[in-house]
Amino acid sequence: MALVDKIKNSPGLKRLTLHLLLVPREARPRRWVSWLVNPFLHQRGRQSLIRWRTRLDVVPFNKFSLGYQSIIEDFSTINNGMGAVIIGDRTLVGMSNVLIGPLRIGNDVIMAQNIVLSGLNHGYLDVKIPIRDQPCTTAEIVVEDEVWIGANSVITAGVRIGRHAVVAGGSVVTKDVPPYTIVGGNPARPLKAYNPETGQWLRVAPPADS
Ligand SMILES: CC(C)(COP(=O)(O)OP(=O)(O)OC[C@H]1O[C@@H](n2cnc3c(N)ncnc32)[C@H](O)[C@@H]1OP(=O)(O)O)[C@@H](O)C(=O)NCCC(=O)NCCS
Repeated sequence: MALVDKIKNSPGLKRLTLHLLLVPREARPRRWVSWLVNPFLHQRGRQSLIRWRTRLDVVPFNKFSLGYQSIIEDFSTINNGMGAVIIGDRTLVGMSNVLIGPLRIGNDVIMAQNIVLSGLNHGYLDVKIPIRDQPCTTAEIVVEDEVWIGANSVITAGVRIGRHAVVAGGSVVTKDVPPYTIVGGNPARPLKAYNPETGQWLRVAPPADS
């Protein structure tokens, strides 16, 4: 731990360490890190599966874990460079998803195809500096247990999707989703919510100004 702190507190050592671990100008680890370091640091649950055409842009100094019987399908990208990516048990990350940490996905979640979750935003406020040179901000995305996210959806930084909620296909979710609620559209709005008294999913009236 003392060594890690020493590296973190010394800009020169930090630059050198990052140079040794990462491909310069690319947000991905060097091959030796992927083959010889990451497998010993990142947790993989029993019977979990990462398809071989998944792109694992994972660094050893942030957490990446995949739970029991969870699957990451082909053409997906996992990036934990700016924050941990934690995926629970029996969760499916469908084809061509892009997961950029910090984010946490619970158990029994279904993620369809072409979904982007990014816990990272680029800084843009200073108009005299290109956006690519401004510091990034991060806010953790949380997807609770039993959620279903429809194809081609985008979930922005800091959003929490409550238990057993549904995100309709093609949604852009910018605000928290309550549990047992279906949201859809851009920006996503509640479409239906479960009523525990009647045991039914009832339509939610659109806001008056829409
Ligand atoms: C949300 C979904 C599950 C339908 O749920 P449902 O309970 O049957 O909802 P309904 O069809 O009764 O639609 C309810 C309302 O939501 C709207 N709605 C449905 N899907 C929507 C979407 N993707 N975006 C925006 N609004 C949508 C409907 O137009 C309807 O609006 P209205 O009340 O004004 O008529 C389905 O539309 C969907 O998006 N599925 C995702 C499919 C997918 O991604 N599959 C990939 C394989 S896992």
